[in-house]
Parts: sequence; C-alpha cells; structure tokens
Amino acid sequence: MIKSLRGMNDILSEDYERFTYFINIATDVAQKYGFHFIETPLLEETALFKRSVGESSDIVGKEMYQFTDKGENDVCLRPEGTAGVVRAFIEKKLDKAGGIHRFFYHGSMFRYERPQKGRLRQFHQFGVESFGVDSVYEDATMIMMSADILKRCGIGYRLQLNSLGDSNCMPQYRDSLISYIESVEDEICEDCVRRKTTNPIRVLDCKNEKCQALYEKAPKLINSLCDSCESDFTKLKKILDDNEIAYEIDTNLVRGLDYYSKTAFEFVSDNIGSQSAIAGGGRYDKLVEFLDGRPTPAVGFAMGIERLMELIVMPENKRDGYYIGAMDEESIDLVISLAQRKRQTDKVIIDYKAKNFKNHIKGADKANTKYFILIGSNEIESGTITIKNLEDKTEQTLNMKDF
Ligand code: HAM
Repeated sequence: MIKSLRGMNDILSEDYERFTYFINIATDVAQKYGFHFIETPLLEETALFKRSVGESSDIVGKEMYQFTDKGENDVCLRPEGTAGVVRAFIEKKLDKAGGIHRFFYHGSMFRYERPQKGRLRQFHQFGVESFGVDSVYEDATMIMMSADILKRCGIGYRLQLNSLGDSNCMPQYRDSLISYIESVEDEICEDCVRRKTTNPIRVLDCKNEKCQALYEKAPKLINSLCDSCESDFTKLKKILDDNEIAYEIDTNLVRGLDYYSKTAFEFVSDNIGSQSAIAGGGRYDKLVEFLDGRPTPAVGFAMGIERLMELIVMPENKRDGYYIGAMDEESIDLVISLAQRKRQTDKVIIDYKAKNFKNHIKGADKANTKYFILIGSNEIESGTITIKNLEDKTEQTLNMKDF
C-alpha cells in the first residue's frame, strides 16, 4: 500500500472543519485590518530563499526541498511565505509605486525537518505582510491582529517580545557577542561554533542546555540598542500596555530567519508540547532592498495552522440544512429534483436508495441536518411535503411547489 510521505498529512473531515473555521476567522480579521489576499507559487528559485531567509539559517542550510527541474533551474518548495510575497511585491513594481500595501496569504510550506508532534514537513501557514509603513504603530497592529485571531479561536497564549536592533546598533553588539562567544568557545556545541562565523546572534536560541547556561552571561542586545531602536521598543511596549496585550520580554528571542531587524515576536502555547511556537514575526526593513527593490520598510507574521488546530475551541456543531429521503424507488427522481432546487439556497443531503423511516432518520442524524423530509407515494399523490424540524420536533406541511 502506498502511504503518504513522512511529515505530510491529509486534512479531511473534522480536521478540515477546524482548518476552514480557522481560515475564515483569520481572513475576516485580516480584512478588518485592511489586508488583501495574495497567492504566490509553491515553487520559487532557490536563490530567493538563500538571499532572504539566509544561508546561515537552518531552514536554508538543512531543510529545503531543493531540486533541479527539467529546464535545469535550481528551484525549491517554499519553506515560508514572506520571501515569495516580497518577490511578488518587487516584481509587480509596488516598491516603485510607493504607498502602503498590505497582504495576507495561507497555504502549504515545506521544511525537511525531523517530523514529530507539531513539526511537519508539509505544514500550513496563515501569514500577513505589510509594506511601506515605517512606524512602530504598524508593528503593534501586527501583534494585536495576531492576538485578535487567537482570541476569536479561543486560544490562550504567551507573547514573547524582543528588539533585534538595526544596522546602527547591531554591528557593535555583534562584535561584543563574538568576543563573548570566543571566551567560552571550548565549551559550546559545534553548531554554535559554526554560528559564530555565519550568524552569531543565532547562538542565543541554541537548544543545547549547556550552551544556554553559558549564554546567560552573554551581553544582551536589548542593552545595546541605539536611541531610535530603544525609543521604538519603548513605544511598542506602551501601545501593547494601552491595549491590554500582555507580553514577556525575551532577550534570547532571535527568530530562525535572517531578515529581521528591530521588532521580533513570537506567540507560544503551553498546551501543545515542545513545538510551542504558534506564530512568529517581526520587522524586516532591509529585505525589499536586499532583493533588489526600492528600500521599503516592512513587517509581518505567520501562524502555524496545524499547531493552532489542536488548540481551537470549536463552536457547538449546530444542526443545519435538509435531509430528503425516498420511501420507494419511484420517489427517488423527485427527491433529486427537490434537492437540486433547494441547494440553490440551502445545504441538502440525500440518499440515492429507497429506505424506511428509521434508516433515513439515522442518515439525517449522521448528517446533522436540521430538517427532515420523506417522499413516498402519498406525497406524490397529494403534491405536498411534510418538513420535520429535528431540533424542536415541530412539523410543517407545504405544497411541493412552494418548497
Ligand atoms: P516561522 O517562525 O519560521 O516564521 O514560522 C511561523 C510559524 O509556522 C511558527 O510559529 C509555527 O507555528 C509554524 N511552523 C514552522 N515550522 C513548522 C513545522 N515544521 N511544522 C508545523 N508548523 C511549523 C516564518 O515563517 C516567517 N515567514 C514569519 C513572518 C512573516 N515574518 C514576517 N512575516
């Protein structure tokens, strides 16, 4: 038997209901904040991710589904959504047009990670990207928007916040961090030794406990921010306080992608095991320019839908629509015609087989319909139908043509 690939799941039935429930809420929230849908291809040139997510990141270094296509192009299944949206933004010359452009998207992402609970090789993200706003109010808005989505889905969270500085303050901090790493180089893991040269700040979120203990004494980026980053971060915290969004400052939050500067944030859940990050994002003011666009400030976030699906509190599954059943073979054609007409406005479930009352009622309960109609020789003769309300058990008889 052929099975699905490791870390790649089917989404059907009840899971699909949760999935669409989430997408509908997230879409509604994004539209309320003035964002527009964007769809970008699943496959992009590998160079796009190398240049944006960064060669030193685990995503690009270890996890890409990269291959050469039949036209000898070096391509890759997207590991995340931001890079493709930025490429589209530049390709459509929206950077040259100027102004504010806000997008949301959802779809599959691919990372060749070791699969475990909450960690898939094909997973789904809902993400948003905002271009053209150089104001920390937009960063706060992103965070409030994520919080709104989580709240409407009944999901509790902790919000972790950090500032990664900018090109003014980051280089100095980098130097002091490298000096510190060198002072403990004999004791840290191999990955951290490599990170020292590729992207030193990534050592701060190393999962090795011994490394973590050593980095407790490392210089903190938050203490090295320049005036502008410092005042933006203070303002961001004030806006969140004013709007009653609780947060924790996590000075080790550096995010796994290289394009961030200034605001970085992550939403985590304590109820889904070790893969606890349910959403993450931040500001990436240099990325558009880095991908050959006109310099454009930008900020965004993405949520991991599979992780959220475990946490969503679904509303009570209400009975909805009609079940129409035939009592005998001769009535089936009429059932089909009635269903066809009613489906223009309502959900209608039918069975192509003639059955007795008891078996049809079972079918209506399984389909969770609100109304129940049986068609047999009596109904055909009288030209009427009786609609049974399965919730309050009332009945109503109608002329068939008025149905
Ligand atoms: P990210 O933190 O790499 O950010 O991913 C966002 C979310 O995707 C994570 O918080 C997590 O919930 C989910 N996720 C990541 N990897 C997996 C996996 N292997 N299995 C299941 N879920 C996963 C980004 O991707 C950035 N593009 C976010 C962003 C948008 N920053 C600015 N704009």
